[in-house]
Amino acid sequence: MPDKTLTGDVTYPSEETVQQARVPRWEELAAEAEKDYLGFWAREASELYWSEPWTQVLDDSRKPFYQWFIGGKTNIAYNCLDRHVRTPHRNKLALLWEGEKGEFRSFSYFALRREVCRFANLLRSLGIKKGDRVTLYMGRIPELPIAMLACARIGAIHSVVYGGFTVEALAERIEDSKSKVLITCDGAYQRGKIVPLKQIADEALQRTGTIESVLVVRRTGQEVNMEQGRDLWYHELMNLPIANVDHPIEMLDAETPLFLLYTSGTTGKPKAILHTHGGYMVGTYTTLKYVFDIREEDRYWCAADPGWITGHSYIVYGPLLNGATSFLYEGAPTFPYPNRWWQMIEKYGINILYTAPTAIRGLMRFGEAWPNRHDLSSLRLLGSVGEPINPEAWRWYHTVIGRGRCPIMDTWWQTETGMFMITPMPSVPLKPGSGTRPFPGLHMDILNEEGVPVGANEEGYLVIQNPWPAMMRTLYNDPQRYVDQYWSKFPGMYLTGDSARRDEDGYYWIIGRVDDVIKVSGYRLGTAEIESALVSHPAVAEAAAIGLPHEIKGNAIHAFVILKAGQARHDHLTEELRSHVSHELGPIAKPEKIEIVDSLPKTRSGKIMRRVLKARALGQDPGNLATLEE
Ligand code: PRX
Repeated sequence: MPDKTLTGDVTYPSEETVQQARVPRWEELAAEAEKDYLGFWAREASELYWSEPWTQVLDDSRKPFYQWFIGGKTNIAYNCLDRHVRTPHRNKLALLWEGEKGEFRSFSYFALRREVCRFANLLRSLGIKKGDRVTLYMGRIPELPIAMLACARIGAIHSVVYGGFTVEALAERIEDSKSKVLITCDGAYQRGKIVPLKQIADEALQRTGTIESVLVVRRTGQEVNMEQGRDLWYHELMNLPIANVDHPIEMLDAETPLFLLYTSGTTGKPKAILHTHGGYMVGTYTTLKYVFDIREEDRYWCAADPGWITGHSYIVYGPLLNGATSFLYEGAPTFPYPNRWWQMIEKYGINILYTAPTAIRGLMRFGEAWPNRHDLSSLRLLGSVGEPINPEAWRWYHTVIGRGRCPIMDTWWQTETGMFMITPMPSVPLKPGSGTRPFPGLHMDILNEEGVPVGANEEGYLVIQNPWPAMMRTLYNDPQRYVDQYWSKFPGMYLTGDSARRDEDGYYWIIGRVDDVIKVSGYRLGTAEIESALVSHPAVAEAAAIGLPHEIKGNAIHAFVILKAGQARHDHLTEELRSHVSHELGPIAKPEKIEIVDSLPKTRSGKIMRRVLKARALGQDPGNLATLEE
């Protein structure tokens, strides 16, 4: 049993949890990784298939452009599928899917590989080759992971754009990645309504010129515009002989790019985080195995969207690498009633549920009666990600959903890190609101402005001191920004963009972002994106966006706008502006409130001081105003 000497509000693992854990204890793994960090990762990597072994685990000669498993050849799609298909595992369920309307589809490893091979051949026939970018803008349906794996199989780079984004967000991501092919759906079901994905894509395609072919998966069945010579129905192509099952896989250098994922940064446009086949594969495989203690008989459900990093790493790649059964649900948690999730847990016998605090808070407000109507005894472990979990939500998740038996793995990580970084393992004592300690072998610290480590319980910049296999390799098309943004404030250390504190037990507590990123319902948005959507409206001259605390969403967007000279303030203008942001960027970015103002607080060099706006909105002291212009 773990020692019971920790301070504060501690939940120790039950005897049952400790005894039933099939993974080593945290202390054991940490000791191994401390003794020989690269040996630890090499041992993990050797559990996967490499057609040629690596000659060097880590190359740090071009810091911060680290490379892993140099000389090794592999393919993440092979390790997700073919590796299992060669064993009795071939008939195990790889993917279970439930549609919002209740339809059900399932794929064994054998069947999933078959679909991926057929799709890979189809992509080839459209002229997609190694290194080409393919944008995916789809709902949560099995064809999304199939398309991702098909890209990986041929060495193409997928760039998934979350289906909740809209016109400008999609256009910008297609343009920046210079994608040749777009894969989309006619529509997606969300809360019983249809999100017209193809229609949004058509509008986005008018703003960018790189796409040669659009593959459309039929899901919702409504009439859509199909442009001759550009748009193709997926189901029609999949019936052609070119969509052959026979697809010889190409083994790739470990450092071959796997995907781009756009995320909001400190300033300016969203940036494309680049991950590669080898290191990302080893990182996601290892962390999911140890943290969730994934087992042969498990049914595992990560309720994120595949369009975000959580879905990439822990709906698609991590679970398949581990030979697990991954469950994917198409729709909203409360559709048609607030027991939808609990119903599915009972129906499919889900053992592990991994979700975000915002979802927990959202479901909590409907009360205990909804989950209590269902048999949730299949659950063994729970996970949380995306933002700090407030102790109240933690308790509810633990007692009402986990029935007091299931430990909660509060995993801190980022699009950039690719894998869990601060996280418990099943038998680690937990403190509600803390992700406990760094994953074995990782070294992290909390620094003050001068780069000096702060004392216990003091707030500072969270940094990572050593490289890890699933780390981003660069910002696609912008290596300088990669260096400037992540590796320059404290040379040699990776800057996370979060502030945190560490208590006397060495447990980390994330406080929040220190940059211009706003986390709305766990979704990462940049003030710059919201502001640029606002100023693209003809009435707006200038805009500023801030995040203010929100009971369910964690943060909600509040925006301030200055109107163009001569622009009349009519009654519906703020409502019109909110809809405009929703149309351009997506409903998740729709500001809660927009205020029309005559001026904005700025520094003498003209930068908007969002911190002043925020302090004012919260009725707090704005702090040092020395740089304020007026
Ligand atoms: O602020 C941290 C918060 O989410 C940020 C990363 O966002 P994104 O790249 O979209 O990835 C989210 C899913 C991995 C972090 O900088 N964050 C993520 N997980 C946690 C968290 N904050 C507190 N606790 C967490 N468990």
